[in-house]
This record gives sequence, structure tokens and C-alpha cells, in this order.
Amino acid sequence: MTIKVLALCGSGRRDSLNRKLLDVAARGAHEAGGEITFISSADYRLPLYEGDFEHEHGVPDTVRNLQRLFAEHTALLIASPEHNGGYTASLKNTIDWISRPLASGEPGIRLIATKVAAVVSASPGPMGGVRSMLGMRGVLEKLGAIVIPQGFSLGAAHLAFTEAGRLSDEKADAEVRLVGARLVETTRQLSRQQAERGCATHTPSRPIESDA
Ligand SMILES: Cc1cc2nc3c(=O)[nH]c(=O)nc-3n(C[C@H](O)[C@H](O)[C@H](O)COP(=O)(O)O)c2cc1C
Repeated sequence: MTIKVLALCGSGRRDSLNRKLLDVAARGAHEAGGEITFISSADYRLPLYEGDFEHEHGVPDTVRNLQRLFAEHTALLIASPEHNGGYTASLKNTIDWISRPLASGEPGIRLIATKVAAVVSASPGPMGGVRSMLGMRGVLEKLGAIVIPQGFSLGAAHLAFTEAGRLSDEKADAEVRLVGARLVETTRQLSRQQAERGCATHTPSRPIESDA
């Protein structure tokens, strides 16, 4: 069973450390049989979410395209950079827009609630963006995603990569690849169970509250 993984980098910066870390995790996902689609915040531009903007202009086409992309994938692998002790405004804004109702009227939140997800983070700082990683896990869990326990926060990331895009610490490289591999294996396992039960995708184990 091929598992489609959407690998989302919260930084669109050239030479992004989070993109490099995402590549390592995605390598693990690929080795486990995942089919990876990469996307970063450089691939789209979104207005800052405001209720009045949505009321007056509707949901932008860019968001509709992102919602379609999310719908086409079962697993979500996020590299979440840290800004001032939390995830970036840009990444959260992306998720906020995606959670808005689909063109069909269905809740956009289901695009996250039906996912199995993993989060990694990289920073030149000593803690590697761990606060961003944990914060982003909390957001995904709140939306109903199954977030696997494995994750990785890479400190001193500006010194960590070889020219070939691997982590020079082989143990760390294996651990990050394992995040991707576990994501694919867990998604495959859940998809099999759900296929046996006759439902197409991961169904949230609890009701999704729209405003709690
Ligand atoms: C506004 C701002 C705030 C930042 N705050 C933090 C922080 O709280 N913790 C941290 O580890 N790094 C922080 N950084 C450093 C970023 O983690 C660093 O620039 C990182 O390389 C960004 O990710 P990227 O390389 O994928 O673009 C901050 C950077 C900026 C621009």
C-alpha cells in the first residue's frame, strides 16, 4: 500500500535548515515506501487570516489548491521553524486557512483530522526549535490528527549537515529518518485497519469541536 506523504516546510528560505532536516526525514519515509510531495511556504502566498477578509473576499484560490493538496495525502510531515519561542505565524496562518470550510461546504478541519502526522524542527540555537515542535504537535492534535510520538529537534543545525544533505552525526541521521519511516508505517497500519472496517481514511477517535 503506497502512503502519500505531504512534506510541508514552514520556511521558504533559501538554504532553510528546516528544509534540510525535512529532506532527511522524508528520505526515511521514502525508504519505508512513502510517496513524498514537498511543499514550502515559498510555494504559495496567503493573506493573514481575518474573518472580515474571508467574509468580503471568500477563501482564496491558493487556499483551495492547498486544501486539494492536503486531501490527496494521508500523512503529514512538518518541519516547523521556531520564532520567539513558538511556531511561526506563517505556518499557523497556513493551517488556519486550510481549516476553513471547503468549497463543498465540508469542514476544512477534516483535512487535518484525517491525517497521521509527524513534526521536526531545526534551529541554529541549542534547543533546535523544540518549543515550536511541541507547539505544532499540540495544534495538530487539537485538530484531531494522530501525531506519532517520534519527532526530532535539531540544535546547532547550521553545523549539522554534510554537503550531501545528511546529518554528520550518523546516529542523529538514523533517528530523523526513523521519524519519516514510523510515520509511513503507522499510517499504513491505520489505513489497513480502517480498510478492514470499511472506512477510507483515518477517522478521528473523538468528535471534532469547531470552537473548543
Ligand atoms: C523573528 C525570529 C525569531 C527567532 N526566534 C527563535 C527562537 O525563539 N528560538 C530559536 O531556536 N531560533 C529562533 N530564531 C532563529 C531561527 O530558528 C533560524 O533563523 C532558523 O534558521 C529558521 O529556520 P530556517 O533555517 O528553516 O529558515 C528566530 C529567527 C527569527 C527571524
